[in-house]
Amino acid sequence: MSLTADALSRLELDAKEVIARYPRPRSALLPLLHLVQSEEGWVSPEGIELCARWLDLTTAEVSAVATFYTMYKRRPNGDYTVGVCTNTLCAVLGGDEILARLEEHLGVHHDETTPDGKVTLEHIECNAACDYAPVVMVNWEFFDNVTPQGAVELVDRLRAGDPPAPTRGPGRLCTFKQVERVLAGFEDGLADEGVGAGPATLAGLHLARERGWAAPPPDAGGDAALGMPATGYGPGGGPSGSDAPADTAKSDPANPTPAGAPDENSSEGGKRQ
Ligand code: FES
Repeated sequence: MSLTADALSRLELDAKEVIARYPRPRSALLPLLHLVQSEEGWVSPEGIELCARWLDLTTAEVSAVATFYTMYKRRPNGDYTVGVCTNTLCAVLGGDEILARLEEHLGVHHDETTPDGKVTLEHIECNAACDYAPVVMVNWEFFDNVTPQGAVELVDRLRAGDPPAPTRGPGRLCTFKQVERVLAGFEDGLADEGVGAGPATLAGLHLARERGWAAPPPDAGGDAALGMPATGYGPGGGPSGSDAPADTAKSDPANPTPAGAPDENSSEGGKRQ
């Protein structure tokens, strides 16, 4: 497929806007690959060449990135990516059965697209939505507590051009290309629409409030009850133990060691093991 002159000039304009958001042009590669997908529905060899030209990179450098991340598609993707989670909780509650049923019903397997170009099936890892397992995602929107029969009805509606609303999030599904434009950094205004966290998501929070539990303060004391050692980081405005090790920061002149972090080369520092 070759891009039309209209599509190309649209892409050129949008690419300029994306590149201008970064101090170094090459940092814009990830959103630009999404931008290409928003027009083409995949990252074609032509899309690779465009990104390389926009960023003054080689096509090999762009290909290396595009082939590393699974969200960049090297074959035309369907209008709807249907992702079925079979990690622990979803598997226990029927995720494997859902996947098998969809493979049989659609006649495609992982990373394959139905002949009508409507659905690409993906076998995916945990969506961090285990509270509503088993979960199916369509273009990264949640369909909660899905049954095998419900999954079949879902893909049938997608293929019939009658996409149902997700269980949470915005009240309508976007197509793959529309979502890719958002991932390229062009808002569609739907981010805050609909319910994000449902009752099951918030159950732990409500329980903690009822019982007066609170998260431990962000200090350097560790958590003796959990057997977590003190890190030596934190007091006096220093970074937390979750921040990058100081020696990593030192190796990067653009990101010097944060004020307050112990010097791991001195006899005072190096508390972290
Ligand atoms: S195990 Fe399926 S969403 Fe977490």
